[in-house]
Amino acid sequence: MVNLAYHKAFPVYQIVLMNLLDFPTGVIAELEALRRDIHAHPELGYEEHRTSDLVAAKLIEWGIPVTRELGGTGVVGVIVGTGGGGKTIGLRADMDALPMQEQNTFAHASKHAGRMHACGHDGHTTMLLGAARWLSQHRNFPGKVVVIFQPAEESAGGARRMIEDGLLLQFPLDAVFAMHNWPMHEVGRFGVRAGPMMAASNSFRVTIKGRGSHAAQPQRSVDPVMTAVQIAQSWQTIVSRNINPGKSAVLSITQIHAGSAVNVIPDEAVLIGTVRNFDTDVLDMIEKRMREIAEHTAAAFNATVDFRFLRSYPAVVNHESETAFAVNVLESIVGKENVNANMEPTMGAEDFAFYLEQVPGCYVFIANGRDEHRDDLGSLGPCSLHHPRYDFNDALLPIGVTYFVRLAEEFLRK
Ligand code: NI
Repeated sequence: MVNLAYHKAFPVYQIVLMNLLDFPTGVIAELEALRRDIHAHPELGYEEHRTSDLVAAKLIEWGIPVTRELGGTGVVGVIVGTGGGGKTIGLRADMDALPMQEQNTFAHASKHAGRMHACGHDGHTTMLLGAARWLSQHRNFPGKVVVIFQPAEESAGGARRMIEDGLLLQFPLDAVFAMHNWPMHEVGRFGVRAGPMMAASNSFRVTIKGRGSHAAQPQRSVDPVMTAVQIAQSWQTIVSRNINPGKSAVLSITQIHAGSAVNVIPDEAVLIGTVRNFDTDVLDMIEKRMREIAEHTAAAFNATVDFRFLRSYPAVVNHESETAFAVNVLESIVGKENVNANMEPTMGAEDFAFYLEQVPGCYVFIANGRDEHRDDLGSLGPCSLHHPRYDFNDALLPIGVTYFVRLAEEFLRK
């Protein structure tokens, strides 16, 4: 069916012809209310108790059996088609919010000081709920759909914990899909690429141990501050001198801590930061070079180092054939011209990478518009993700639900 997608958030000049599901009256308004309710009650990673209860209650109301407590607050629902047998597809949404103060003043702004849905996970959860409802009411496919509502995407690796708790053993998947809302692009557009799409996220904490002294008697010290500065400078040659120019990486030192007084050379200095890139071999090399430079530079100044490097999230690497399939589904909904199937990779990170390490699948970006849905926009202009004025655009709900539903139906039927 071909619908004219109309929503109050579309400016008149942007009526987009989309092949959306034929939603019964009231369904989208219900989803919108649900999304705003979740937005108003944000919860941090592993504390998504209210959200988890809400998701489980809705799934049960729609006749979908749920499994809880994987990853703490995670919720998994299984929708069995009427066609018997068949494959199993996983669809995943994240539920957590961020520890920041919302500055929006609209009615559905956060009711909790210091917590906010500034990354649109309220929308992800709602789109997957909408799809679960539709799929449960239709079930016109063979096989099974596993809907995965995941905690703690933002920093604590909820995906890894759900997998460690047995998610993929209990619910073996043939493929897995997810999406993230993406600001600054017109509603109705999607972005994706096969291969590396989002970077691996890693952090380091390097402590340089010297010997403190009176600042007026530097000859008695092993100055960790000067050593830290030398190390910080030299690390900047790794990306420019050691990496193949055809590859990319970011090495950002984001904190330098040392000392507490004007006239004291401290004992220690600490360098903290992040490394982002797409290839494991390049990452191995960066970690090795950082360690060598730190240890040898420290040795040259008679200091020592405690070198800690933590690999947090691997890169999101989309699988070729699942990406081609997802692109086909997207093109059938919004048209070829609205799907950028070769988008530039981003240095942002995403724990969906853990699923893609074990199950073929694809992660896509769904454009959130240019903030035309915000009536209090004023002179602020469009917001980025993690901005204190960010809000998921409800105009995406029918589009995202349609994408999830078509993915499932077509994957299971092919
Ligand atoms: Ni996010």
